[in-house]
Amino acid sequence: MNFTKDPHSHACPIEAVITHVDWLLTVDFEEKKIAGRGSYQIQHQNASEIILDVKGLVIEKVELEPQSSTPVFWLSEPDSILGQGLHIPLEAQTKRVHISFSSTQDSAALQWLSPEQTAGKTDPFLFTQSQAILARTWLPCQDSPGIRFTYTAKVTVPTHLLPLMSAQNPQEKNSSGTYHFIMERPMPSYLLSLAVGDLQFKPLGERCGVYAEPSIIEAAAQEFLDTENMLEAAETLYGPYLWGRYDLLVLPPSFPFGGMENPMLTFATPTIITGDKSLTSLVAHELAHSWSGNLVTNATWNDFWLNEGFTVYFERRIMEALYGEDYAHMLHVLGYHDLLQTLEELKHTPEDTHLKLQLENRDPDEGLTEIAYEKGNLFLCHLEALLGRVRFDAFVTQYFNTYQFKCIDTASFVSILENELINGNSALRDQINYEAFIFQPGIPAGVAVPSSQRFHQVETQVQLWQQGTAPAELETEAWSTHEILYFLKKMPNTLSTAQLQELDAAFGFTASTNAEIQAAWLQLAIAHQYAPAFPALQAFLLRVGRRKFVLPLYKALLATEAGTQMAREIYQQAKPGYHAVTFSSVDALLAKS
Ligand code: BES
Ligand code: ZN
Repeated sequence: MNFTKDPHSHACPIEAVITHVDWLLTVDFEEKKIAGRGSYQIQHQNASEIILDVKGLVIEKVELEPQSSTPVFWLSEPDSILGQGLHIPLEAQTKRVHISFSSTQDSAALQWLSPEQTAGKTDPFLFTQSQAILARTWLPCQDSPGIRFTYTAKVTVPTHLLPLMSAQNPQEKNSSGTYHFIMERPMPSYLLSLAVGDLQFKPLGERCGVYAEPSIIEAAAQEFLDTENMLEAAETLYGPYLWGRYDLLVLPPSFPFGGMENPMLTFATPTIITGDKSLTSLVAHELAHSWSGNLVTNATWNDFWLNEGFTVYFERRIMEALYGEDYAHMLHVLGYHDLLQTLEELKHTPEDTHLKLQLENRDPDEGLTEIAYEKGNLFLCHLEALLGRVRFDAFVTQYFNTYQFKCIDTASFVSILENELINGNSALRDQINYEAFIFQPGIPAGVAVPSSQRFHQVETQVQLWQQGTAPAELETEAWSTHEILYFLKKMPNTLSTAQLQELDAAFGFTASTNAEIQAAWLQLAIAHQYAPAFPALQAFLLRVGRRKFVLPLYKALLATEAGTQMAREIYQQAKPGYHAVTFSSVDALLAKS
């Protein structure tokens, strides 16, 4: 195994590395605590110690196997981002270490939800979010994406609840409350996950299914009906799915992300359930991570674009296979707009717009911008355009196949490009211009700007409306969510209250049950102080914890004094319902204002 130095982990895998873990976990909803014991198989050659990452955990006991005098483990000075190194002295013959631990209030990966925060309102719920470096806040581990291990877990929960993990999962509750999980394929720690709630399973096909609370399971199954087709399309593109089953779990609305690619069990926000399958590119995205990310993994968070750029590209190829080119083009254009906006926001820190990031001594969360996603995707689209699809697809298939269950850093990717594609052809090297994409800011000159036929029609309607056509007269019947989002994006910078009222009356934006549309509309409402939308704004911020929605709304509010007042009032109520990932970001935002 080759290991790249990871600035976000204390582990020294070259010295001693974990290869397998057996966990025993007891989930206590009264105490809001997970009590655990892990038995860690390790590989080393006469290493003097093994180092794990921990943060916000209590380490109760450490034992070696074969047993020796009880080792004196020690914890390094806490770092506010990285937590502590858990140093365990080893003996030459040590095969395993056993660690007893428990979570605390500071276990930032965990969100303990009250029954009121769930769909059913009768049972509590727990979920984890480990990416990027929060696995260490609920389980001691070598928390680096470059280190892979297999695991099992025996998890005990209250008998009326069902636990699920990124592993082979049960499909129904049992009477004992104890469940066994196995993950047979080696995976990095950031994909460790657990959810516990009143959950039900419904199959979607042979290899796919969905878990959700009983009151939303039917709607979820309906929404995700095409999942098996997506899986087949993905395999046709880039080779066999190697993880066995692919299931989805619908979380309560406080889930801080849209989706999280936990192996065998994607975690998803309920805000993509719209009734018309219009936001399922998120499923294609998380599914695509089963290749880009989970099979071939970024070596460190500086190489995050290798995970997300490839995944965005792959996601849109899946969507194209299912719904056609026109559909994929809309996604590319919306993504490109987001990229331009991000470039504008990051104009004072241009290094953060390189694909290859420098996140040492920073929270890897700072790398979570549209650069990795959309500039990464743009680079791959650029490669596709230069090489042709046939050749580029063969390259990607071979890349996934050659590096499966391994990690890759940006430098290795550059050598792969050089050896597999460029092959000494300096004209091609100049055209590809990877140097500019990877190591320079902004968008390289001469790169094709994505465009969409369906969006041109939207632009026409925007013009007609601006020239006085009533909204009801516009040609909008055939519009999907994406056209509506583009329509809202294309609104002039200033809108009168009468115009907002007119749009709202025609399209019902304030009361939209599509979270993506509602959030885009609420942005406009805040910018124009359109008061009729404020109750909906407050309700949205109290219910939804998805950071991508929540953060821009607070940001927009903070632009004015009255808005700032409102933001603070709402946030005071809303904060206890947010996951740490979300409230840390909002806290930082408010601290600046
Ligand atoms: N793996 C990411 C989420 C993530 C990244 C969590 C970094 C923590 C740190 C996931 O695959 C993702 O990209 N989710 C997106 C959805 C997607 C369709 C762009 C999200 O949550 O918005
Ligand atoms: Zn992703």
